[in-house]
Amino acid sequence: MERKYAMTTLSPPSALFGPEYTQNPYPVYAWLREHSPIHEFRFPIGDVRMWMVTRYDDVRALLGDTRFSTEGRKWGSEAFNALGLTAGTGSLLEDGISVVDAPAHTRLRRVAMGAFTPRRIATWRDTISRIVNETLDACARKGEIDVLDDYAGVISSTVLAEILGIRIERHAELVENLSRCFPADPALQAEVPQAFSAICDYAADIVAEKRLSPGDDLTTALLDGTEGGERLTDDEVVAMVASIALGGGDTIRAFLGSAILALIDHPGQRDLLVADPSLAPAAVEEFVRYDAPFTTVMFRLAKEDVTHGGVTIPAGDAVIMCQAAANRDPARFTDPDRLDLLRENNRHLGWGHGIHNCMGAALARLEGEIAVPAFFRRFPDLRLVGDRADVRFIESFALRRIDSLHVEVL
Ligand code: HEM
Repeated sequence: MERKYAMTTLSPPSALFGPEYTQNPYPVYAWLREHSPIHEFRFPIGDVRMWMVTRYDDVRALLGDTRFSTEGRKWGSEAFNALGLTAGTGSLLEDGISVVDAPAHTRLRRVAMGAFTPRRIATWRDTISRIVNETLDACARKGEIDVLDDYAGVISSTVLAEILGIRIERHAELVENLSRCFPADPALQAEVPQAFSAICDYAADIVAEKRLSPGDDLTTALLDGTEGGERLTDDEVVAMVASIALGGGDTIRAFLGSAILALIDHPGQRDLLVADPSLAPAAVEEFVRYDAPFTTVMFRLAKEDVTHGGVTIPAGDAVIMCQAAANRDPARFTDPDRLDLLRENNRHLGWGHGIHNCMGAALARLEGEIAVPAFFRRFPDLRLVGDRADVRFIESFALRRIDSLHVEVL
């Protein structure tokens, strides 16, 4: 059935990117899909005009549309650029893989993906299983844990550190800086460039260390280049390691935390997964569809005036392609607000779509497939500590991560 695009002057049930939205954006997404699917609004940071796209077909089509770019510096309006909203502005990350178009993007991506060989990815399974088991033992010794800090956070940090070939001690500093990159509070925007610079300094240290003592890790592989002899420059390797840290640093923690909460909320689905380990890959896709760690992808800038669905987005304006809203679109998914690990044809957009789709999806999938079922198998009688209604999400305009989740695992 063809859906209509109507212009509306009404407002969504709560302010976009406001405190209520941060805790539960889904009612706002439902309203937008229905009443204003390509929605003009003022972004709270800098009060700049933006557009939010929420229907599945539109998000998918526009993410693959070359009239949009992530290169904020080149295509963004003055008002957008004055706010420093392009990820990495003022640091080496402003030429990083997430914010460059083809053909520069094509080359960076080809060389980087050369390091994600099937052999290397296969070794990650053992690494992750070992780290998950050690972390479960540590949790069992504690009795009461915060799922985010004591389980999801430890696994995500330790795995990323091992894969990049770095010492875990440096990792806390990275996570702290990552949590400052996409603030919901406009007053905190001034600190963002400093956080991106710190992530690049951290990546530069890792690269310098690996140059002196190479290992069988991703950073060394990125320094070596492809088998065909293609290499990244020194700055590009640093930006790539920083992009991987940015993409993978806090997302897995967020993802594991939300997946575990979803199964605490849905004991029937939890029982299905525990009883049938072969469900794990489908379960991971459903967790990412149901409540993904990124609600939106990077800002897309209109390179020219773009008319879509009867709405014209002026050149230079920033567009938020909201994959979390698309993933709950009833026109694409049956009963979309229901967690259904047996869902078929689950072609969600939680890993993005188009040239910038997630480079770390293979790693994220493995971590989810191993860490989520293992948690419930080890702790079948876990009990939530405190009130479910008190579980809060952090204040961020892009990252959806539970602040803390206390459970008794005795
Ligand atoms: C459940 C966990 C994860 C989710 C849901 C996720 C989601 C995404 C999404 C939606 C994008 C597209 C951004 C855009 O189009 O602007 C993306 C890109 C990216 N992700 Fe992930 N990600 C996850 C984990 C990871 C991990 C573990 C890594 C690193 C090992 C990683 C590295 C990247 C990189 C480097 C990009 C940029 C790719 C490019 O621009 O070509 N991600 N991710």
